[in-house]
Amino acid sequence: MKTILTGIKPTGTPHIANYFGAIKPALDGAAADSRSFFFIADYHALTTVRNRGEMARNIKEIVCTWLACGLDPKKTVLYRQSDVPEIFELATILGNVTAKGLMDRAHAYKAAVQAGENVNIGLYTYPVLMAADILLFDTNLVPVGQDQKQHIEIAADIANSFNAVYGKTLTVPEPQIRKEVAIIPGLDGQKMSKSYNNVIPLFAPPDELLKCIKRITTDSSAPTDPKPADHLIFKLFELFGKKGVKTDVGWGQLKQELFETADAYIKPMRARYEKLMSNYGEVEKILQDGATKARKVARTTLDKVRKAIGV
Ligand code: ADP
Ligand code: TRP
Repeated sequence: MKTILTGIKPTGTPHIANYFGAIKPALDGAAADSRSFFFIADYHALTTVRNRGEMARNIKEIVCTWLACGLDPKKTVLYRQSDVPEIFELATILGNVTAKGLMDRAHAYKAAVQAGENVNIGLYTYPVLMAADILLFDTNLVPVGQDQKQHIEIAADIANSFNAVYGKTLTVPEPQIRKEVAIIPGLDGQKMSKSYNNVIPLFAPPDELLKCIKRITTDSSAPTDPKPADHLIFKLFELFGKKGVKTDVGWGQLKQELFETADAYIKPMRARYEKLMSNYGEVEKILQDGATKARKVARTTLDKVRKAIGV
């Protein structure tokens, strides 16, 4: 049986690309015959979120999103990273088999240096913490969007380095990236991302959803021209499962139709989301149960690792 694991940072309100790029593929994987661990990477979010109210709200939104999208807590272990201290112990150990050069080559670190930002050690060692998240649970597959591929490759490198020194102890993970949703464009055509202010929030109320869809950039070409078929609007129709869209109409009408399609798809999940958000006591119980289950598995791996290194 394969183990799948993925995490999402609580850095803002989940959007449609998070759903189709990471959440849905992960949930589809969990429905298959596999062990699944999905978590909120709250300590990873510390690289950008420095306001306690914002952090707490973001965590709540991501947890409720996972559950509203169909995560079954009886089948999948759902937890906060910060509730599993074994992760941080493993990260400390893994740092010692991680070459500095590997961290120097990490995309997120390089981008921060290039942008002239003040880089802290949390950002620099981000991939080691992520490797600990993954390796602690004997993970085989990590469903993510294309932007996370390098991080999973680094985790695999770290597992191989550890195994080379101490003998086969850690499972070497692989990324699982769906080609058709690897990079979903945002309202302006570049990658949809919280950092670019070009997102469609997954659970935006209908009037806001319509406003977002109306903001999708369209140029003077007609929907029937050969190239616009690759346009975000058609990509979204496809993702929301709508076939046979008529293209011999104006962009305005297509946007209205897209809104109706998206709204019908999201509606039942949005209703569950709103219920969970106002019933957070129940959700907190699910998280505590998840932490207990996660720590049990984590302990087994950590004991193996401690034995391997001789402490
Ligand atoms: P953001 O770029 O908005 O900050 P995150 O880094 O929190 O998003 O990503 C959470 C998950 O969603 C990751 O697995 C990531 O690969 C996936 N993801 C984010 N943006 C996209 C996108 N535009 N297309 C496909 N997957 C995405
Ligand atoms: N780095 C991931 C992101 O930015 C979040 C993450 C942290 C993660 N730990 C993980 C993803 C482990 C998969 C597995 O989206």
